Amino acid sequence: MGDQWDLEGKTAIVTGGGKGIGKAIALALADAGARVVVASRTEADINAVAGEINARGGQALAHRIDLMQWDRIEGLVSATVQAFGTVDILVNNAARSFLRPLMDLREDGFDKIFGANVKAPFLLSRAVAKIMMSKSGGRIVNITTVGTERGGPMMGVYFAAKAALKMLTMCMAVEWAPFNINVNAVGPGMTKTEFSRPLWSDPDMERRLTSRIPAGRLAEPADIVGAVLFLCSDAARYINGQTIFVDGGGLANS
Ligand SMILES: NC(=O)c1ccc[n+]([C@@H]2O[C@H](COP(=O)([O-])OP(=O)(O)OC[C@H]3O[C@@H](n4cnc5c(N)ncnc54)[C@H](OP(=O)(O)O)[C@@H]3O)[C@@H](O)[C@H]2O)c1
Repeated sequence: MGDQWDLEGKTAIVTGGGKGIGKAIALALADAGARVVVASRTEADINAVAGEINARGGQALAHRIDLMQWDRIEGLVSATVQAFGTVDILVNNAARSFLRPLMDLREDGFDKIFGANVKAPFLLSRAVAKIMMSKSGGRIVNITTVGTERGGPMMGVYFAAKAALKMLTMCMAVEWAPFNINVNAVGPGMTKTEFSRPLWSDPDMERRLTSRIPAGRLAEPADIVGAVLFLCSDAARYINGQTIFVDGGGLANS
């Protein structure tokens, strides 16, 4: 029973692992026994997370990358293979959004949102899947959002991009299942990080948002990691192309 939850000896890449939900995921994967490559643009953040993992007796590498520089994506994978020999797990967590009505979003804003939330995870998943195919095994977890399931104001293009990532999750699952690669998604509800701070920093707004959540509170990053760990574990070996929503019951209450 115990062994199927264990990630001992696995190597994981976590994009956006320097803060917020990605940081919580990186630390939890390391606690479950995985070697972790923590990747984002901010050196201080990724060094701090990799340092924390190494200080706890785990193995981690900080890899600075702007995932919007498409030609650097293969470099993240080769640096991981060079450091740890392979890649078993990819968590596409890094994301970008702007709080704007659709009418006010600039064209380059649209491109940045689709670039960070769709193209980067697509290119990185393909690069990692080549390694996973060569050894017939791997797990990819894409972090989406409850916003794939319902419309809403101010983040329309972000929700559309995440809906595209949800569909890519399903299509990658279908095409890569013969190689024993499972591709799933985790869709958080609103979670207290820098990303969503403008939405919950005002107490009235937080009360309004919370009133629709049966759990009676917004999520913390630590609430999201269990679903990710599960999907990376052997216990989830027959789960493919699915999204687990971690939202305190919010979608069920829509
Ligand atoms: N917070 C929420 O309410 C919420 C709800 C639903 C879903 N989500 C999803 O959960 C995931 C994590 O969000 P979060 O709330 O933890 O956000 P966050 O604290 O803002 O973290 C986002 C991460 O993405 C990285 N990143 C952004 N652009 C990047 C780029 N071009 N290249 C490399 N890394 C980049 C950032 O690092 P650098 O800036 O250092 O590059 C940062 O580490 C995202 O996929 C988000 O869509 C969040």
